[in-house]
Amino acid sequence: MSLQSAQQHVTLNTLNKIRANGQKFSCLTAYDACFSGLLNEAGIEVILVGDSLGMVLQGHDSTLPVTMADMVYHVQCVKRSNKRSFLMADMPFMSYSSDTETLENAAALMRAGAEMVKLEGGAWLESSTRLLAERGIPVCVHMGLTPQSINRIGGYLVQGRDPIQAESMVKEALLLQEAGASILLLECVPTALAKRITDALDIPVIGIGAGPHTTGQVLVLHDLLGISPIKPKFVKNFLPESDNGIAGAIKAYADAVKSGQFPAPEHCFD
Ligand code: KIV
Repeated sequence: MSLQSAQQHVTLNTLNKIRANGQKFSCLTAYDACFSGLLNEAGIEVILVGDSLGMVLQGHDSTLPVTMADMVYHVQCVKRSNKRSFLMADMPFMSYSSDTETLENAAALMRAGAEMVKLEGGAWLESSTRLLAERGIPVCVHMGLTPQSINRIGGYLVQGRDPIQAESMVKEALLLQEAGASILLLECVPTALAKRITDALDIPVIGIGAGPHTTGQVLVLHDLLGISPIKPKFVKNFLPESDNGIAGAIKAYADAVKSGQFPAPEHCFD
């Protein structure tokens, strides 16, 4: 039986073994119990309860309005029917701006059922990452295009094309790994830079719009099903190639990630 098809609960050890074997794993967002079960059946290794729920469920034009109460509620919903996938939850905007808030809010997500928390940023997250990791809370750091900083970035733009920014992203990724990050997530970065960062690190890297070389891939569920109002370049609608409706589309995505067929060149940035 392959690592990916093993039926036991996926853990960080599973993801590290997949990386060590040169294999790939799939990550997909879910926000409720029904989809959580479908993702399990499709063999998705990591479920992300993303703050993208602010846009795809709540109809906001950014993730900034999402609250801790929203996140706890959706993590609880997903947790109830999750039998297999590793469960990662976003810490929403401004929920990790001081050490006290970081600890209290990460603990609330873990108590709700998360197995890892995800924070957006770069070098400034060094102390928060260390604080959480030392207390037993696994951390994923989301770098590149960080939607919670959309007002500073000025738009949903590819990050790291500038050589100086690219160099600093490599250094920041290494710093955050040293601080205790267990996974790095890269959003909207050129393929070559994502490969460089993935090769430089000893932890799994999950990509979205970051090319085919990362250890894992993530998509927003509504994008994969073709029901989001906007369609970024890195998105693929898997529903048309499914012979089993929504469940088949999720399975097609999981299989395409593990076989290396997704993302294709048209989903990547130079
Ligand atoms: O909130 C989310 O769904 C995310 C993904 C886009 C990676 O952070």
